[in-house]
Amino acid sequence: MKIFEPFSLSGLALKNKIVMAPMTRSRAIGNIPNPLMKQYYSQRSGAGLILSEATAVSANGTGYPRIPGAYTEEQIAGWKNVAEGVHAKGGRFFVQLFHTGRVSAALNLPQGGETIAPSVVPLTEMEMYTDQKGMQPHDIPREMTLGDIRQVQDEYVEASKGLIEAGIDGIEIHSANGYLLDQFLDPKTNLRTDPYGGDYKGRARFTLETTQKVADTIGPENVGIRFSPYGVFNGMSGNFEDLVELYTYLAQKLSKMGIAYIHIADQRAAMAAPEFATQIWKTMGENFNGTMMGGGDVDTAEKAEELLNDGYDLVYIGRPFIANPNLVEKLRNKEALTPLDPDKLYSPGSEGYIDWAS
Ligand SMILES: Cc1cc2nc3c(=O)[nH]c(=O)nc-3n(C[C@H](O)[C@H](O)[C@H](O)COP(=O)(O)O)c2cc1C
Repeated sequence: MKIFEPFSLSGLALKNKIVMAPMTRSRAIGNIPNPLMKQYYSQRSGAGLILSEATAVSANGTGYPRIPGAYTEEQIAGWKNVAEGVHAKGGRFFVQLFHTGRVSAALNLPQGGETIAPSVVPLTEMEMYTDQKGMQPHDIPREMTLGDIRQVQDEYVEASKGLIEAGIDGIEIHSANGYLLDQFLDPKTNLRTDPYGGDYKGRARFTLETTQKVADTIGPENVGIRFSPYGVFNGMSGNFEDLVELYTYLAQKLSKMGIAYIHIADQRAAMAAPEFATQIWKTMGENFNGTMMGGGDVDTAEKAEELLNDGYDLVYIGRPFIANPNLVEKLRNKEALTPLDPDKLYSPGSEGYIDWAS
C-alpha cells in the first residue's frame, strides 16, 4: 500500500507516509521537555514523521499547564534529547511551535507572562484548566501593539533557530485550532484596524510574515504550517465571509515561500466541527506547490489510503498513537487497536503515557 511507502519531504527521507499528529500531553513539568517525553516519542518512532505537541515560543504563549516551551536553553536541550531518541530509532521529528494568545489563564503563565491577543476579545465559551484552582475563566487579553507583534515574530525565529541548531528536523508553525496565529486569521477575534486586521490580506499578514521570517532563518524546506479552516475549537467562528479567499491567498503566498508542507487539521474528527462548506483542502492544494498533509479519524490503513487517493501526500494520525506506540505495525498487520484512557490524556506522570504495550 502507498501509505507504507517512503516519502521525501522537501529532501527529508521519511520511512512511510504516516505522521504522528501533534498532541498536547501535559507531562512537561516546569515547561521543560524531559526524559519521560523522550521515551514517549521514541516509542512512537515507527511513524514516518512525528510532530511534537504544541510548544510555546515564550512565557506569554504558555497559557496551559505543563506544556513545553522552546524559549530557554534548558528547554532546547530537552528537545535535543527527545529528538536524539527518535533519531536513534530511525524516526524524524518536527516541533510544533505555538503561542496560546487569548487561550490562557494567568495561573498557568510562567513568571513574567502576560495574556495578549490581536484584540480584546476574551474566550468565554469555555474555561481553562489550572493545576492550582481547577477550571478558571480565560484571561481578558491585552491588545497587542505593533511592538508586541514584532516581538512574537522574533520569538518564533529564536525558538526555530535554537531547535534546528539542536538537531530537530523541522518546525511546524501552529496557525490552527484557535491559538494566536489563528486568532489573527479569524474576524471574530481580530478587530484590528491597522495593517494586521481588516480584510483577509490584513488578517493573514501576521501568519505570513512570521512564516517568512522563520523560513529566512532556518530554510523554507524545514518549515511546515498547520491550519484548521472551518474550525470551531476555542471559540472560533467556523465559517466567515472571506474564508475561501483567505485560505487560497495563504496557500498561494506559502507556495511562493517554498515551505515544505501545509497541514490541514480536520476538526470534524475530534473537535465536533460541522461539515465543511467547501473542499477547502483541495483548493489549497491546487494553489500550493508543496506537500499536503491531512487526516482525522484514521484508524486503518484503508482509511489512510483513501486520503492519499483524495489528494493528500501524507496522513496524520493522532489519538490511535496514544495507546498504540507501534501503531504503524498494527495497521500493517490489521491488528486490533487498544483504546486510550481519557482520564490520562493530560495527567502528569508516566501512567497512560509510556506504559502501553508495544
Ligand atoms: C489529547 C490531544 C491533544 C491534542 N493536542 C494538539 C496540539 O498540541 N496541537 C495540535 O495542532 N493539535 C492537537 N490535537 C489535535 C490532533 O492533532 C488531531 O488533529 C486530532 O486528534 C484529530 O486526529 P485523530 O482523529 O487522528 O485523533 C490534539 C488532540 C488530542 C486528542
